Amino acid sequence: MTGPVAASVLDVREAARLRDALDATGPIGATFRQLASVLDVAPPRVQETLERWERDGSVHRLGRGLWVLRAYATLEDREDFVEPTAFDERFLEENGVAIGRYSGPITFRSNETLPVHRWWPYVQGYSAEFVRGVLAAQGVAAGAVVLDPFAGSGTTLVEARRAGAAAIGVELLAPAVLAARVKTTFELDPGRLERRAASVARSALRRRPAGLPFLRETRRQFTPDALAELLRLRDALPPEGEASADAVRLAFGRILIPSSRLHRSPCLGYRRGDADDDATPGGRFLAAIGTMAEDLRALGGEADRWGPPARVVRGDARVLDVPPGSVDLVLTSPPYVNGMDYVMNYKVDLAWLGYAGSYAELRRLRGAEVACDNLPRRETAGYLGFASAPDPWLGEILRRIDRNVRRKGTYRRNDMHAVVHRYFADLLPVLRRARDALRPGGTFVLVVGDSLLAGAYVPGDLLLARIAARQGLEIVSVDVARRRRSGQRRSFELRESVVTLRRPVS
Ligand SMILES: C[S@@+](CC[C@H](N)C(=O)[O-])C[C@H]1O[C@@H](n2cnc3c(N)ncnc32)[C@H](O)[C@@H]1O
Repeated sequence: MTGPVAASVLDVREAARLRDALDATGPIGATFRQLASVLDVAPPRVQETLERWERDGSVHRLGRGLWVLRAYATLEDREDFVEPTAFDERFLEENGVAIGRYSGPITFRSNETLPVHRWWPYVQGYSAEFVRGVLAAQGVAAGAVVLDPFAGSGTTLVEARRAGAAAIGVELLAPAVLAARVKTTFELDPGRLERRAASVARSALRRRPAGLPFLRETRRQFTPDALAELLRLRDALPPEGEASADAVRLAFGRILIPSSRLHRSPCLGYRRGDADDDATPGGRFLAAIGTMAEDLRALGGEADRWGPPARVVRGDARVLDVPPGSVDLVLTSPPYVNGMDYVMNYKVDLAWLGYAGSYAELRRLRGAEVACDNLPRRETAGYLGFASAPDPWLGEILRRIDRNVRRKGTYRRNDMHAVVHRYFADLLPVLRRARDALRPGGTFVLVVGDSLLAGAYVPGDLLLARIAARQGLEIVSVDVARRRRSGQRRSFELRESVVTLRRPVS
């Protein structure tokens, strides 16, 4: 007989051990392969047993292939789980602020069709409409100073400058810094930009494709034709520094992912199926330049309202250096708890634009990022304890994460609580420096998300508000702007909030 042989389910003793092993993973759960390795049996046998149990309802499959006992299918009813609403109630009791709502678009998506903002789509950014609303509500006008310590692609800076303010931004990720610089250089002459881009395109045609960027997967990431054309364009780019040269480089950076087999959703990964269109890299590049020129021409009509040229600093927000009392509004969105590894997500842009020349350099850049899940283990060594957590709630939450991870025995990383600890420790100096930079009475608005980690809820918005309050800022409001789903438990609703703080007048 031929054909696939069905895997046999586990025998009674093995099944009992499987149930115990799964129980030990608690709310975190495990994949069938992890469980098979604990039991030391063939993975298909564990898989088949779990699927049988799923049919009788005794186990539950979470998102991307994690199994949990039915008792952990939903966290909300469990005694050992502290729900978001419980934190909200405690926040009202202890901090005197009830959670409100913000309505209006908050994600970057609505920027994708907006002049200037569309020059560099940044999934991690927020909406220009939201920024305009905050600027208007805070009465930001000519002469005001606006600071964004995690400036990203410069959404705050573009809108602050358009409103007449002096805009200052700090950002670590070089391609985002380039985007923010170019997008805030409203004086750029569109004709000059088009001429410069045309000369790059002509010069690229005459070149032979030269060395590949250092990324090991480059040949897999592009078709041979697209790769050859991109290499020629890259080698024809002018060096960074002058405004039209920077803009041409940004247009090139902007077409890298659309010209590849990759996409961001929001993390970088291989696309399934073909590209949306069959444009060549050269065609995309000139189209991007055309869009920029069109927007610059339209922008020129409001030149009398622009604030002074924005200051965009490539650097680490934790060592932000802005004169004390000089800023009217800090408006920002930091990375989220256990959120994205920006360096790895933008490694293609970093490599092709020449901002990183090796994996060692990528790792070094990552070392300066606000802590995320990919943080090297040595970077969490100082954060394994609980006592130094900058807020008592955080101490409790860190213990809960640690307990769940220990109970499971193996987890993605057994220092998960220390990653979370380090995240808040990284944001602490930013909160302090932003407080000092604000004038008395000045406002600090943060857009931030929460997280569910190792079966424990982490209210990132409330924790940051409380930590800021301990640094002498007043909590004005916390407004939920949208619900979102992330991570393994897609059924669990996370949120993104607008936290508004104020530096007291005296
Ligand atoms: C949520 S995004 C901000 C997006 C921005 N509001 C926009 O609309 O484009 C957070 C940013 O923080 C940056 N970042 C991470 N660690 C940083 C650090 N230590 N200093 C400065 N920026 C950092 C990331 O590169 C990312 O661009």
